[in-house]
Amino acid sequence: MKDNIYILGIESSCDDTSAAVIRDGVLLSNVTASQAVHEAYGGVVPELASRAHQQNIVPVVDHALKQAGVEREQLSAIAFTRGPGLMGSLHVGVSFAKGLAASLGIPMVDVNHLQGHVLAHFIKEEASDREQPSFPFLCLLVSGGNSQIVLVKSYKEMEVIGQTIDDAAGECIDKCSKVMGLGYPGGPIIDRLARQGNPKAYQFSRPQIKGYDYSFSGLKTSFLYSLREWLKEDEDFIEHHKEDLAASLEYTVVDILMKKLRQASKDLKIKQVAVAGGVSANSGLRQAFQDHARRYGWKVYIPKFSFTTDNAAMIAITGYFKFLDKDFCPMELPAYSRVTV
Ligand code: KG4
Repeated sequence: MKDNIYILGIESSCDDTSAAVIRDGVLLSNVTASQAVHEAYGGVVPELASRAHQQNIVPVVDHALKQAGVEREQLSAIAFTRGPGLMGSLHVGVSFAKGLAASLGIPMVDVNHLQGHVLAHFIKEEASDREQPSFPFLCLLVSGGNSQIVLVKSYKEMEVIGQTIDDAAGECIDKCSKVMGLGYPGGPIIDRLARQGNPKAYQFSRPQIKGYDYSFSGLKTSFLYSLREWLKEDEDFIEHHKEDLAASLEYTVVDILMKKLRQASKDLKIKQVAVAGGVSANSGLRQAFQDHARRYGWKVYIPKFSFTTDNAAMIAITGYFKFLDKDFCPMELPAYSRVTV
């Protein structure tokens, strides 16, 4: 009888410390410690993030192993996020993975965080789960740091066919929320307010960029300048209109994202379309995917909420595929802060 393959996944690229265990591609546990410490600063403070990872990494990994009912000695390999991300945060996960792998005498598998987000669509919670895209498919990867259209040809072959030339969609939403004094992270706050507002109440400028690339810095500036003008007329403008402002902002961001994705789907004749990354938690964007499925005959793949933001389950599943290919990484490989898929 063949031995089971157990992979421990570790994610520490930004402000979530996460560990997950999968057996033969099926998720047994996925434990995440988020860092509330950044809320007071309105954004992630790298120095504080790495300190919090130091505090969280041992209990989070212990918890994930316990929840999975797996002993360290059963592990076949350790998969870890090598980049991109915050260097200090990555160092904690990478060093921990190296130490544990060395002590257990098992291989390590390095994972590109962005590739992990895309492959989150292959996480199985039951061995019988079949709702997975087949290749090739398009994936809209939208997070706090990235907005990309990825052509996914196989588990390992991914081509970024479009990406933001400045701010990411999540960054734009977070910054507009900050300007309105709504708190951090802005994404979930804007999402909640937008549900009660009119998406057509206000109009903001839209980028005119060729091809499949995105730009969100113009929208952010247009939002800021419009708000300044409105505040001159009514100093309580934000309080009076925050729902409409949130709904109009969300509507514009979603519209910009979907327009390029529609074009890519049409040009490449690919109707299997997935969405991934933190912003894929957004209700307006999820609804737009459902609408496109009805209107354009797309087969859409929308991740469960727990697999949208940073999590180790997506690192473990990517590590599992690489493990099957015997694609291991040497001990001396360092973390990296920047790269695309
Ligand atoms: O993928 P992610 O967890 O982290 C990285 O950037 O790697 O994405 C975080 C982003 C933040 O910009 C956050 O505001 C956004 O995802 N986000 C949302 C929602 N939930 C999280 N944006 C819009 N609507 C949401 N419901």
